Amino acid sequence: MSEKMPELYFGDLKAEVPIVQGGMGVGISMSSLASAVANEGGVGVISAAEIGFIREEFARNPKEANTLALEEEIKKAKSLSKKGIIGVNIMVALTEFIDLIKASIKAGADILFCGAGLPLTVPIEEIKESGIKFGVIVSSAKATTLIFKYWDRHYGVIPDAVVVEGPKAGGHLGFRYEQIDNPDFELEKIVPPVLDAVKVYEEKYNKKIPTIAAGGIYTGEDIYKFINKIGVDGVQMATRFVATHECDADIRFKEAYVNCKKEDITIIRSPVGLPGRAIKNKFLEDVEEGKKQPFKCIWQCLKGCEYRKAPYCITQALISAQKGVFKSGFAFAGSNAYRINKIVSVKELMDELKADYAKAVRSEE
Ligand SMILES: Cc1cc2nc3c(=O)[nH]c(=O)nc-3n(C[C@H](O)[C@H](O)[C@H](O)COP(=O)(O)O)c2cc1C
Repeated sequence: MSEKMPELYFGDLKAEVPIVQGGMGVGISMSSLASAVANEGGVGVISAAEIGFIREEFARNPKEANTLALEEEIKKAKSLSKKGIIGVNIMVALTEFIDLIKASIKAGADILFCGAGLPLTVPIEEIKESGIKFGVIVSSAKATTLIFKYWDRHYGVIPDAVVVEGPKAGGHLGFRYEQIDNPDFELEKIVPPVLDAVKVYEEKYNKKIPTIAAGGIYTGEDIYKFINKIGVDGVQMATRFVATHECDADIRFKEAYVNCKKEDITIIRSPVGLPGRAIKNKFLEDVEEGKKQPFKCIWQCLKGCEYRKAPYCITQALISAQKGVFKSGFAFAGSNAYRINKIVSVKELMDELKADYAKAVRSEE
């Protein structure tokens, strides 16, 4: 077996390395990180979530700021990357979901990854016409079938890729609280039924749909296992890309990863009504103790956010954290964040992953 990781194909679009850098909001994965990953042959992904915070009109006109900032970041990432693929992560739960898809198409993104809700209603004509690839992020075979069945019936096409995200991921999770540590829901268990669900539509459409595993994948050996033993075509990794020089967050955000211990990684009840994985800090402890951070909602950014009942504004907290201001925010992180002990370049990280993958191949022979 080749010691080299296999290439990852989205139809005619090829990534030399089967690694998708997971989209990270707010402002953690923008043009700097995404272009660095693309330059190493992977898929670099910009998070669209409230990306307008980098523009001065954000408070006045968040909608315009978000679409303009997203277009700018896509164009910047494209110009900074000599090769590789630039994608955009757009949460279905964002009120501007459709506008952000259109902005991504306009700015020339190669692929979209849409999760945090079921991407059923989409601007299909624009998607078809532009040729942009559309990936869905799911946490179960049931959701996969639902989306594919809907697209098949209503649009006569199917999505181009499936990312299966397990409960070890960072950020908001597509699981109920009690499922997170239940071994029946671990990534290794939820991927095979998704592969079966996708296969039905691959056969119907005679089209290869790459399936990508995400959540807790940390080493080259993990990549080897998921590709060669479990049968996915690629992996999506986010946590490891935070601790890189190129990651778009403030150095203090990256240091929070380097300095955290296993017991600091916790599950929070996000104001959006979903569980999320984050690094514990004073801000989260205060929230836990019932202290509220009064705020006026100026954005209405998320469809499910009951902001009148929320103890704090998730967008404000994540923007503060992106800027390294943890007294009013916190860092989302995957379950393996505590294993990180230094900040490296994206190239160093990719080289390490490739070398460990090769080692795993050799140890099987
Ligand atoms: C800081 C952070 C922010 C994230 N933000 C988003 C997001 O905005 N949208 C999304 O779909 N996933 C988000 N994720 C999930 C990642 O894209 C990814 O699928 C997941 O974290 C993979 O697991 P890993 O971190 O263990 O590699 C986020 C993850 C982290 C660590």
